[in-house]
Amino acid sequence: MFDALAARGREFLGVRYPIISGGMTWVSNFALVKAVSDCGGFPVFAGGNMPPALLETEVDRLVAELKHPFAVNLITIAPNFRAQYEVLQSKKVPFVVFAGSFPRKSDVQGMKQAGKRCMAFASEGSIAEQQIRFGIDALILEGSEAGGHIGHVSLMVLLQQVLFAYDAVPIFVAGGIATGRMMAHLMLMGAAGVQLGTRFVMSEECTAHPKFKEAFLHAHARQAISTPQYDSKLPVVAVRAIKNGGMEAFGKLQLELLKQLEAGEITREAAQYEVEHFWVGSLRKAVEEGDVEGGSLMAGQSVGLLHDILPMQQILDTLVADAEAELQRVAGRMGTLNPV
Ligand SMILES: Cc1cc2nc3c(=O)[nH]c(=O)nc-3n(C[C@H](O)[C@H](O)[C@H](O)COP(=O)(O)O)c2cc1C
Repeated sequence: MFDALAARGREFLGVRYPIISGGMTWVSNFALVKAVSDCGGFPVFAGGNMPPALLETEVDRLVAELKHPFAVNLITIAPNFRAQYEVLQSKKVPFVVFAGSFPRKSDVQGMKQAGKRCMAFASEGSIAEQQIRFGIDALILEGSEAGGHIGHVSLMVLLQQVLFAYDAVPIFVAGGIATGRMMAHLMLMGAAGVQLGTRFVMSEECTAHPKFKEAFLHAHARQAISTPQYDSKLPVVAVRAIKNGGMEAFGKLQLELLKQLEAGEITREAAQYEVEHFWVGSLRKAVEEGDVEGGSLMAGQSVGLLHDILPMQQILDTLVADAEAELQRVAGRMGTLNPV
């Protein structure tokens, strides 16, 4: 049964399982991407704000060594975005995922003309409609339960607002997914597949610092909180991460910057840069150096559902086996219902 439901996503992505390992800055490196790919999933390499020359080297390695399709994630608001875009256009990368903000029509069309399939996040119905008009090939519907930079709307609402309303392109659903059982229900609702992040951090092949992964092992869902915005003078894209000293430091930084803005001691642009730069530096500190107190522990609420670090193959195979078992269970239940 899973095979039938998975057909559209599988055909679109060109891999065995329509399960996307979402791009995660500093985490989704060559090692993780290769592991996901070799085990039948669809990996997304994180471009983050990588210097274009380094991105080129990494992409060349992916193109040379991966046997199946994969994507590169570009953050449209990253300072290096334009240069990264040009690097990707010239490479044999089959898919591009635009993140951060929404790609312009020319961004989508430029990549499509270079032979790539494009995906973008839809944080509400009007964005889905716009992106479909721009020629996007697939959408990712990510609820606010997810880890990393997030929108404000929960998956429960987005499913009704977007998944139930649009069928023109495949829609992959993300945020809070930890089990095959959940995946089965989302696909019954019409999802072409799913995207997970936190689950893949908790894989043996993920090269994030052991302390980073250890923090995930012990976290409860309620500890994966999102950052507040104190004043619209200093807009903050919410980030979901496990509560620690870094989260508190971010709150204090915002208050301090607001004070400086009020006193005319800093420009709005400089303050905005500091807010955005905070996460880039602090995620790296946690992922690469293991600074789990001062760095950022970006994670979805799904972290509270995950209690083990497993080999990639086991993660993917279990998701699919559990999805299949759930579909059989649902079919059994449906069979026992008597139509009136
Ligand atoms: C540590 C971390 C870093 C992330 N960085 C990015 C990123 O650079 N670009 C992006 O599109 N999404 C990013 N995400 C979101 C994931 O790709 C994915 O959509 C999300 O984790 C799904 O929610 P889940 O963690 O509940 O499975 C990040 C998530 C985490 C946990």
